[in-house]
Amino acid sequence: MEKKVRTAVIGYGMISNIYLKNLKNLFHIIDLVAVAGRSAAAARAQADAYGVERAMTIEEAAAAEDIELAVVLTPASAHYGIIRQMLSAGKHVWTEKTMAVTVEQGRELARLAEEKGLYLGVAPDTVLGAGIQTARAALDRGMIGEVTSGLAVINRNQSLNAELFTFLRGEGGSLPYDVGIYYIGALLALLGPVESVCAFGTPAKKHEPELLYANAEAEPWTIPGSAVMSASLRFVSGALVSVLFDGATVNAPQHVLTLFGERGILKLGDPNTFNGEVRLAYADGGECVLPFTHGYDGVNTLEPTPFDGYGHRGIGVAEMAYALRRGRPNRCGKEYGLHCLEVLAAMEESTSSGKSVEIASRFVMEPLKPGYYSQLGGMRGDAERSLMD
Ligand SMILES: NC(=O)c1ccc[n+]([C@@H]2O[C@H](COP(=O)([O-])OP(=O)(O)OC[C@H]3O[C@@H](n4cnc5c(N)ncnc54)[C@H](O)[C@@H]3O)[C@@H](O)[C@H]2O)c1
Repeated sequence: MEKKVRTAVIGYGMISNIYLKNLKNLFHIIDLVAVAGRSAAAARAQADAYGVERAMTIEEAAAAEDIELAVVLTPASAHYGIIRQMLSAGKHVWTEKTMAVTVEQGRELARLAEEKGLYLGVAPDTVLGAGIQTARAALDRGMIGEVTSGLAVINRNQSLNAELFTFLRGEGGSLPYDVGIYYIGALLALLGPVESVCAFGTPAKKHEPELLYANAEAEPWTIPGSAVMSASLRFVSGALVSVLFDGATVNAPQHVLTLFGERGILKLGDPNTFNGEVRLAYADGGECVLPFTHGYDGVNTLEPTPFDGYGHRGIGVAEMAYALRRGRPNRCGKEYGLHCLEVLAAMEESTSSGKSVEIASRFVMEPLKPGYYSQLGGMRGDAERSLMD
């Protein structure tokens, strides 16, 4: 067994709960030693809640020599500065999406990690979950033949949601960046890199706060970027995928993620979860649900929580920790994170230029080895073995 990787979580907001729980209890490879943030006192409260020994400021985390890996769970607009600070201090970094809010910042961070020989891993890591890995196994086994096209759709009322999640009002808060990225990430994990993008978009309208639980004094806001985006992606593989992200409608999500192949059709569940059902439609019109070939289905067996279906966040951190101990590339690496950002930025650029945008960068994401999650006596080794190689 490899030496555990001494890890600090930076940020103590909503998503830190499931990360802290999993990094503390679920993954053997992680030694969670600290919670850090702008306020050491707030970090202390969150550290105590999850049995983590040390609490500190972000500066103290950067200066702590024993910390090898920083897990950045702040809003996207704060990622660039914190990731740069941590890489400059010699720490490997895992960051929540998006790695930065501009492609230039993302490229600079990727360059810095490369120069310093450090790992930089980027969410979404839902692509390592049972649903998407099962779909990937089906594709790799040729179950639908060559993928010719696809369809990805997600809808929400993003301006209304920004009343509750205030960070959505700023840069990186539009539906494409906040949620569409799960669809882009899944498509990249399944089909590989994108070659070219063209898109139409509609900007968000000014939003007057309307919910009772929101801050009554809040000023109206306009989420930057496109609220509605209709795009066409041409993958290097040759597949053409239509994408519709509508953040200016209602919150009843009609998520669609479908891949059409020469010999069948694969219909995936919500890629913002770990356990999206994978349905195979075959040539004669029949349809079946594929059994999961992989563990990490998002249902946290240690202690079921409202996060079930979302419950394996941190899998990308653990996979990266094994990668750095074994000296191999991590699957949700900086090239994948940067490509996600480049695709989103290219879509946005195309909405204003009216031209298609070529994407030069490339990445490779190997599938995970199949592995189920053992529930025998609370053991948890089986699936984690699939994260090692
Ligand atoms: N909430 C979710 O369901 C969810 C799901 C998946 C991913 N994410 C991602 O996780 C990240 C955090 O989301 P969240 O819901 O926990 O947000 P949150 O607002 O609940 O918490 C954000 C944390 O970051 C800190 N922070 C804010 N601005 C900062 C700055 N400039 N410098 C340093 N620290 C700062 C806050 O103090 C807080 O600890 C975001 O990137 C988000 O996209 C959230």
